[in-house]
Amino acid sequence: MQIDIITVVPGLLEGPFSHSILKRAEEKGLAKVQVHNLRDYATNKQKQVDDYAFGGGAGMVMMIEPIAKCIEALKSERDYDEIIYMTPDGKTFDQQMANSLSLKGNLMILCGHYKGVDERIRQKYITREISIGDFVLSGGELAAAVVADAVIRLIPGVLNDETSALTDSFQDGLLAPPIYTRPAEYEGMKVPDILLSGHNEKIAHWRFEESVRRTKERRPDLLEGHDLEEGDKRK
Ligand code: ADE
Repeated sequence: MQIDIITVVPGLLEGPFSHSILKRAEEKGLAKVQVHNLRDYATNKQKQVDDYAFGGGAGMVMMIEPIAKCIEALKSERDYDEIIYMTPDGKTFDQQMANSLSLKGNLMILCGHYKGVDERIRQKYITREISIGDFVLSGGELAAAVVADAVIRLIPGVLNDETSALTDSFQDGLLAPPIYTRPAEYEGMKVPDILLSGHNEKIAHWRFEESVRRTKERRPDLLEGHDLEEGDKRK
């Protein structure tokens, strides 16, 4: 998978993809992220990428031409399954959306900045609009990094067994259970006996019960429509 990210602030995306799991994904040839500076596609001498909003009001609007030029240039190099626009008025990102995007081929992500992009870009090119939550960031870059991270780690082969995505919070619709490592006792606080028992079936059942307890306590909304009996059988 290749993820191409279009932005007016490429510096914001320099860090995240050259470390840890995302770096390894690229080294293994499983996922590559390329950042494109929209200003390189500006059509006038001033390298202008934004302009005043028709109808007035505060805030600039990202112009059509540089974005269209950049998208067309990328499309001429490879096929894209989705052209995504990061915006607070998009559909809220969740694990299910991450799962579905991880099964796609190449993705293009356009980061909104200023007041956002001219509506006609959305009409002509965008196949999916994503928000990472009900708050407003100063641009779509950090949101794009969040989406790319959540998607790339799900691509088969990116994670090794110890970090398997199958036991993540949300993957089975529940929050993850508590986890422990050595020492077995710290300042009088003991790891639950069951985890030291070596009895895999009982441990799986305990983890499931703890997941349910934690989800009921913290995110009861996740349990609506969740078949807990079915979940337990799968363990
Ligand atoms: N751009 C600004 N805020 C955003 C958000 N919450 N999600 C996605 N893109 C954004």
